[in-house]
Amino acid sequence: METATAFDASVVVPEEERALPSRRETYAELVRRLSHQSVVKHFDAYADIDWDGDEFRIDPTDPRWDLGPEETLGATAWYRAQPPEIRARIGVHLVASFMKTGLQFESVLKRGLLDFAFDLPNGAPEFRYVYHEIIEEAQHSLMFQEFVNRTGFDIPGLGGLDRFLSRTVIRFARIFPELFFFFVLGGEDPIDHVQRTALRSGRDIHPLLRRIMQIHVTEEARHLCFARHYLRQKVPHLGSVRRLALSVMTPVVLAIMAQLMMQPSRQIIRQYRIPAAVIDEAYRLNPRHREKTLAALAKVRDLCGELGLLTPVSTPVWQVLGIWNASSGA
Ligand SMILES: [Fe+2]
Ligand SMILES: [Fe+2]
Repeated sequence: METATAFDASVVVPEEERALPSRRETYAELVRRLSHQSVVKHFDAYADIDWDGDEFRIDPTDPRWDLGPEETLGATAWYRAQPPEIRARIGVHLVASFMKTGLQFESVLKRGLLDFAFDLPNGAPEFRYVYHEIIEEAQHSLMFQEFVNRTGFDIPGLGGLDRFLSRTVIRFARIFPELFFFFVLGGEDPIDHVQRTALRSGRDIHPLLRRIMQIHVTEEARHLCFARHYLRQKVPHLGSVRRLALSVMTPVVLAIMAQLMMQPSRQIIRQYRIPAAVIDEAYRLNPRHREKTLAALAKVRDLCGELGLLTPVSTPVWQVLGIWNASSGA
């Protein structure tokens, strides 16, 4: 088990961007390699994080939680005008809230993966890989919930509609796995992008959050790699009706996921009385936020282009949802 505590620069390089052992690696070989990596490089939420260590203690007024002017909300005049303790409190509340959303997303993901594995034939390499991923996601959820608990915030998590939709997503894992794996990318890619950007930024990040992000991006690299290669393997063999459905439903899923993963919850807006005009300024009408969202979705959008899913029928859906990047050339 990996127990390094110092920052490991290799975590900012996704698994699939590293040199492959063979250029002619088949899909099955890749899946087996990812399974092996889960054995030699994996983490335990409690053995690998010194939760009670002095430097990991969470103080909600710690200035390291301040969002900073490079953050979407942190750049607003309203936020900068708050007292330092409130700025820090909003910062750590946001982190805890994203972690709660993240662990609920992982709950849907795990249940979907279990269903996906249920019907796999004996000998399928995906079975072992998917079980490794479920185990890793369970460790992530343990560390996210432990973080939430230690902040002292009572985070409600997903609302009723999102909970209802999540049950539909789980069903897709069995009846339409290609759409399910786009849902997986829609949840994992934006959060992975945000965490890698933060780790690279050189900012003074709270050591506990840094440790959690390092562990997470290391293991997520495998999950993203599997989802992308699964889609590359399966989408070209879809019939025309399923392909059309996939091309139109994918941007809807991505837009919902990006919003859940990148904007403050209603609880936070209410509790700190953030004016609607500030939310508009920071998110809805902010070209910088739009750019960040597009950047977070860039890899999955490029994959859609590669798989021929950006068509004259589906492109308007991307545009209407505000996640189309005309400059991507896809
Ligand atoms: Fe995860
Ligand atoms: Fe994951």
